[in-house]
Amino acid sequence: MCGIIGYVGDTAAAPILLKALRNLEYRGYDSAGIATIHNGKVSAEKDVGKIDQVCGKHDLEKLPGNVGIGHVRWATHGDVTQVNAHPHFDCKGEIAVVHNGIVENYRELRTRLEPKHRFVSQTDTEVIPHLIEEYMDAGATLEQAVLQTSRQLKGCYAFAAVCVKEPDRVVATRRESPLVVGANSHRAFIASDALAFLQETNRVVFLEDGEFVILGKTVTFLDQDGKPIKKEFKEVDWKWDQATKQGYDYYMMKEILEEPQAIRQAMMQDRKLLLEMGIGILRSRQVVITACGTSRFAALIGRYLFSRLAGKFCDVIMGSEFQYFSDSIDRNTLVIAVSQSGETADVIQGVKRAKENGAQVYSIVNTVGSTLARMADRVLYLNCGPEIGVAATKTFVSQLTLFYLLAFTMENRLDDGIQQLLDICPLIEQNVKQNNKGLQVLAQKTRDRNDFYYIARGINFAIAAEGALKMKEISYIHAEGMPAGELKHGTLALVDHGTPIVVVAPDDYTYDETIANAHETKARGAFVIGLSEETNPIFDAWIPIPDVDEIFQPLVTVVPLQLLAYYSALARGRDPDKPRNLAKSVTVL
Ligand code: M6R
Repeated sequence: MCGIIGYVGDTAAAPILLKALRNLEYRGYDSAGIATIHNGKVSAEKDVGKIDQVCGKHDLEKLPGNVGIGHVRWATHGDVTQVNAHPHFDCKGEIAVVHNGIVENYRELRTRLEPKHRFVSQTDTEVIPHLIEEYMDAGATLEQAVLQTSRQLKGCYAFAAVCVKEPDRVVATRRESPLVVGANSHRAFIASDALAFLQETNRVVFLEDGEFVILGKTVTFLDQDGKPIKKEFKEVDWKWDQATKQGYDYYMMKEILEEPQAIRQAMMQDRKLLLEMGIGILRSRQVVITACGTSRFAALIGRYLFSRLAGKFCDVIMGSEFQYFSDSIDRNTLVIAVSQSGETADVIQGVKRAKENGAQVYSIVNTVGSTLARMADRVLYLNCGPEIGVAATKTFVSQLTLFYLLAFTMENRLDDGIQQLLDICPLIEQNVKQNNKGLQVLAQKTRDRNDFYYIARGINFAIAAEGALKMKEISYIHAEGMPAGELKHGTLALVDHGTPIVVVAPDDYTYDETIANAHETKARGAFVIGLSEETNPIFDAWIPIPDVDEIFQPLVTVVPLQLLAYYSALARGRDPDKPRNLAKSVTVL
């Protein structure tokens, strides 16, 4: 997703902006650029490609001045071209703007502006510098012009602007797209994500919708009417080294190996808060969990745990569909929003509608101060540190851990639950070592197969779906996960000689039926990959898993599937950390 950065400080802006953009790379992007202000002039360079490629073509690092803005673009409006890359400019090249989000009414604004302004790109963003230009030409300051411009925009956005007429400042604002301000005694930043500047400072302020910030000699905050407001800087406890590869080839591998520790850290919760939330869930007339992608699969397992341990039924609705159920959401509804980033637009939109209808909201997020955290009545944090790989791994097991804690709290067995979770951590560590080589071999063996099917029953159904999601997002091959019983209702028609079928079959009351479904595929020539405690003659390849109680199986079945996806991506020459077309934080609808 697009990432923006702005800087004002005591040293040259360009190297700092570039470093920040590299820190935002994980979000996914297709082009990059920066603009600085110096000697009454905007200097800018931008192009398509990764930051290193853009730097190879243009000397970004040498752009002069101590004030600047930067951007990594994830195309929404307009092709991936140099001219569509950010920053964008006004007619005179005196104003530069970087933007994250979508200006929904850009066509209307552009039609209105076009008679007097020269547009060069196909982007929605370009209306912003031209609007600022209009207001400044009419006598507004940069701050006033940004305020007036924001009133014209519909949609979600976070943008930052610089102008040669006020060369000592960056002005920025947001609506429904994240924007965080960071500062130390001699440098100030705005960015889409605090990771951008975490090496410089961990003192941050999260801007609320409609607020403005002016980075200059001091940092000034304004409300939506332009009146100065006080906001307090808080320290985020993420450490920069958590966001480095620490010797691993890819973040994804590092983050998979961090999973046992992530489970331990996720267990560090305030018991009183857990109890309040557990009681809140039990007492609510209806509970709806909403999430997208991997977080939704964690929610499906959470739903199972609530039912199994606490006898509480709840529904899971994917974020992008939730708003369409708003007719049945009211003040007796409790919504639990699950999101590692806390910034997923689909989830935010549904939660917003639910709040308008009077629903109570709990959030389970990783990013402290993120939008979903701020929208919630109560928040649980994953506490697993930043996850950089686009493919969610350690945040998934952390989300599961929080669902375990809530379910055990509701059952009044929290201590027992914690002990059992602690006991599982070393089993995961051993299992990774046990499977590591075999999974590499398996990934090589299946590297020419273009369709994978994953089946499981009960609590592991969502793990089959998650295994398939991991495989498709980083290997670019077709993969589907489904309840094993569903296979014969359609998908079996696709099973052919050699088709890999990943059968998640732990030794529980689902085992016999799941194996029976595996037989149905074997009869059609499938290559059966079995995950279970003991091997079975039907398996062409076996992935051993530790023997744990049924309700904890997702924690041990998911890890080998993450590794299988990882090695399959490598076997196909893909970069598992930066899958094409995908973004870490999906801040558009
Ligand atoms: O930040 P979120 O948890 O809300 O993100 C939701 C999905 O975009 C995310 O889980 C996505 O499916 C992952 N890339 C999967 O690995």
